[in-house]
Amino acid sequence: MSLTETAHAKINLYLHVTGKRPDGYHLLDSLVVFAGAADRLTHQPSEAPLSLELTGPFGQKLASEATDDNLVIRAARLLTQGMDTPLTGRLILEKNLPVASGIGGGSADAAATLRLVDRVLALGTPEPRLLSIAEQLGADVPVCLLQKPTLMRGIGEQLDPAPALPACGILLVNCGEAVSTPAIFKARNAAFSSDAILPAAWPTAAAMTDDLQRLSNDLEPPACALCPSISIVLDAIGALPNCLLSRMSGSGATCFGLFDTAESAEAAATRLRQEQQNDWWIWAGPVLPSPDAPSA
Ligand code: C5P
Repeated sequence: MSLTETAHAKINLYLHVTGKRPDGYHLLDSLVVFAGAADRLTHQPSEAPLSLELTGPFGQKLASEATDDNLVIRAARLLTQGMDTPLTGRLILEKNLPVASGIGGGSADAAATLRLVDRVLALGTPEPRLLSIAEQLGADVPVCLLQKPTLMRGIGEQLDPAPALPACGILLVNCGEAVSTPAIFKARNAAFSSDAILPAAWPTAAAMTDDLQRLSNDLEPPACALCPSISIVLDAIGALPNCLLSRMSGSGATCFGLFDTAESAEAAATRLRQEQQNDWWIWAGPVLPSPDAPSA
């Protein structure tokens, strides 16, 4: 039987760089949420050695990386290493999210692989072990494993529940230029920020964006300097009707706009698609609620 896992886009609503470790990794303070936009990873069982196939609108871009170095294969290997019977069959990655774009595509795929392989082999791996494997795969992989609103600190391994979030809509826009995360961190030359002080809950999207306006993505200035299209995207999002906040996610280049509702985010996306002459990737919909939240 085939099994599928969904790897949702990760968005940093703010991202403070608060320090640097001796090994060069940066300490962060970030509120991470997930959007409906997602890659999909399917496992089709067979006796053949494990293989990876890439499909979807961004599958070709990744094709050159469909090797042993691919994070999906590395995640599957790490989880199953030392086991008597190796994982066999086909992994099919439907790549719907732009590559190297600050919304966690590769990290979300690696996290989805851990969840999927755990299900395929009925391993029942305890969450702390999955999180420790995730950490070895990349700083953003642990938060993508949880795939719910989370406060992320350390280099990405300290995860705490986010404030209770209001329902809201989000618009994602990517200009199509891949940016290098190490290069952005290297180009950052501002003083370190402090950790944000957040309330336990935000009653409305407007209250949340009021607080977020006072915070920042510290990687946005160096990213805009290295990739000027990001500033153009941010201005275009900020000028859309009912946009409460426009900001870059992660190390870019994807930017987001926050809206009161998914419907107003979708209306803004329609308008942006009509207005812009570029080949931008545009997605709009809801911010995902926490799976643990009581249903309304
Ligand atoms: O861990 P990941 O592969 O996502 O990180 C890519 C690069 O981004 C790292 O090699 C490092 O240069 C930089 N980085 C950092 N501090 C972090 C996360 C990433 O300096 N917390």
